[in-house]
Amino acid sequence: MNSFVSIADLTKDDILHLVHRAEYFEHNPNLKTLEGKVCATLFFEPSTRTRLSFETAINRLGGRVIGFSDAATTSSSKGEILKDTIKMVSNYADVIIMRHYLEGAARYASEITPVPIINAGDGANQHPSQTMLDIYSIYKTQGKLDDLTITMVGDLKYGRTVHSLLNGMSHFNANFQFVAPEELKLPELYKQFLDEKGIRYAEYTEFSPEIINHSDILYMTRVQRERFADLMEYEKVKNVYVLTNSMLKNSKDNLRILHPLPRVNEIAYDVDENPKAYYFEQAKNGVYARQAIISEVIGVN
Ligand code: CP
Repeated sequence: MNSFVSIADLTKDDILHLVHRAEYFEHNPNLKTLEGKVCATLFFEPSTRTRLSFETAINRLGGRVIGFSDAATTSSSKGEILKDTIKMVSNYADVIIMRHYLEGAARYASEITPVPIINAGDGANQHPSQTMLDIYSIYKTQGKLDDLTITMVGDLKYGRTVHSLLNGMSHFNANFQFVAPEELKLPELYKQFLDEKGIRYAEYTEFSPEIINHSDILYMTRVQRERFADLMEYEKVKNVYVLTNSMLKNSKDNLRILHPLPRVNEIAYDVDENPKAYYFEQAKNGVYARQAIISEVIGVN
């Protein structure tokens, strides 16, 4: 593995290897394997968890971090193009972790520099490091990855975490339930992918208790205001599904609720106290999954 751009570049064995490496780092979070390495975090879009968990991962492994969390403070604001920014940072860092609003930006960056690129989210396309922490969270909570019913709720059109996760879990005989309003349905491209692989899925517009009761994993997502060109369209769908504690009454014992976060109002606060709510622990798993990814692309153990 050199760059880490899309979960679709990984085999099932690659994914399982990273899951086991994340498990290793959970038990050994404070190693010095990145000593002497400089890691750049370039965030052209806002982030809390992804940037801070990558930086925590690097710090705990003894590496150094350079970078920015707001491109407005960089020469991009003077008109510098992405190519030039990447070439410059390649002079300084051993790995570049980047989030960009353009789909394909991380792939493009990986083609113009020999320094490994880690995609921390590119537009509505992919968020592969999120997928690794999601898969690690599924593995930890279910004790397995195979034969699970995974229900994805909310913005399935623009949700890059959804797109990456269905790709990653396609190796494990998942049964998907997709719940979205017409405006935010899963794009045809992803359905074609599932059809070609013979993976079962069903689509719903109503978020009913029956759907929840069949689920092993309930993957809630935010309707993303920043992806809408027309804010009137956003207003129509922003409150479409809200998970409340009472809706979980007859859910399976092993059900766990995941959310890539941030949430807006799609999970009511009363769910937080339910032992099936796992989204804060899920975010913590991001440190271990990202320690595994960085170590792999840099080539340290
Ligand atoms: N899950 C996720 O990508 O969160 P941030 O936008 O806060 O990084």
